[in-house]
Amino acid sequence: MQMIVNEKYYPGNLEIIKLEECDSTNNYLKRNYEQVKDKLPVLATCALQTAGRGREQRTWLSSRGKGLYSSFGFNLAARQYLNMLPLISGFSVIETLQTAAGIRDMDLGLKWPNDVLCRGEKIAGILIENIIMEPQLFCIAGIGINLNHAKEDFPGDLAEKATSLKMIAGSDRDYVVEEVNPLLARFLFQWLERLENGEKEEIIRTANRYSHFLMDTPISFHQTPGKLISGIFKGIHQDGGLILESNEGSTAIYYSGEIL
Ligand code: BTN
Repeated sequence: MQMIVNEKYYPGNLEIIKLEECDSTNNYLKRNYEQVKDKLPVLATCALQTAGRGREQRTWLSSRGKGLYSSFGFNLAARQYLNMLPLISGFSVIETLQTAAGIRDMDLGLKWPNDVLCRGEKIAGILIENIIMEPQLFCIAGIGINLNHAKEDFPGDLAEKATSLKMIAGSDRDYVVEEVNPLLARFLFQWLERLENGEKEEIIRTANRYSHFLMDTPISFHQTPGKLISGIFKGIHQDGGLILESNEGSTAIYYSGEIL
């Protein structure tokens, strides 16, 4: 069942598609590009995903009532700054968590390029997918936030690595997707405007501030699963890449991959 609503708390021009159930909100936007392309920007949000997708072909746990599962679709004119899209999506999640539940700055961190950690555990994940539709670049920022999980809701070793807003805030009440989505939309579109305005330095400054907890620490990193690279995290480069200092002292910049 699909319902299109225009809720007053969202940025005025955002088309909202609320779904009861779908495979993945990213897939939904890709499948329905022809229908949504004249209504951009659009938000597809879903109560339950049956095949939620994470980065590197992982699945994203998407049970009803536990998390927020949303994908924002928009055209990006500033395509030279595409590397910054994961970063600003991460900032939007961080600002949303601060505003929705008063989570302190010092408890939140961005693990390059776009995992959001809270007290060292993962609270949100972002899957960016870009589709080139010349002359346009259609971007999908798929965001999953753990809202109401208890430790036992996470299967296997995820329980040691993941957390939720409810656990962190120590709240009795459940967080409601309808309250969190408008915040996310507001922050994301503010950052997108800055990106389109070329405020690159401010974006990199913010990325380095949110990644500060990793600065000068040894990390393991891979570009393709299984091929480990070790080094010292030296921050985020001015064009959005990860700066890694090798054990021999040379510096390299990476534009894709994951810190483990
Ligand atoms: C990751 O950390 O691996 C990224 C997780 C991204 C999950 C979100 S939930 C909404 C959107 N739809 C999906 O299938 N994935 C993203």
